[in-house]
Amino acid sequence: MSQLLPSTSSICLLLLCTLFLHHSLADLGTAARYGPPFLPTACFGRDASQFPPSNFFGAVGEGLWDNGAACGRQYQVRCISAAVRGTCITGQMVQIKIVDRAQSSVSRPSLEGTTLVLSSQAFQAIANASASFINVEYQQV
Ligand SMILES: *[C@@H]1O[C@H](CO)[C@@H](O)[C@H](O)[C@H]1NC(C)=O
Repeated sequence: MSQLLPSTSSICLLLLCTLFLHHSLADLGTAARYGPPFLPTACFGRDASQFPPSNFFGAVGEGLWDNGAACGRQYQVRCISAAVRGTCITGQMVQIKIVDRAQSSVSRPSLEGTTLVLSSQAFQAIANASASFINVEYQQV
């Protein structure tokens, strides 16, 4: 028993570290793209003032929707790979604001069921605009 206690707390510490590291690192997912019309959105209805001037925005898939809490969150997104070699623009990162829910967006994503859907401007900042989806690394900021 006395030997069991230290090892149990070590495991707990390891688990805490793992959770902490996991949170500080980017997650992996997929991203499709979508173009206009963007209104109305599931987040802000017809309020066009919620779109960032950069036109770097997007919609979240069900995994990130968080019952609507995703609205207004900012994500940094990086393209890591795609079906066609050379699709990703190496070293590019884009920061997007979440304005919609992919499942109900007016303009349909180039692929259903992805983690994120990027506005075409955001998508083409990190990848070849003609790709229908890319593998991404993303992190909430
Ligand atoms: C983008 O992809 C298309 C289709 O695969 C290709 O024809 C085009 O050359 C690519 N553009 C760039 C800039 O790589």
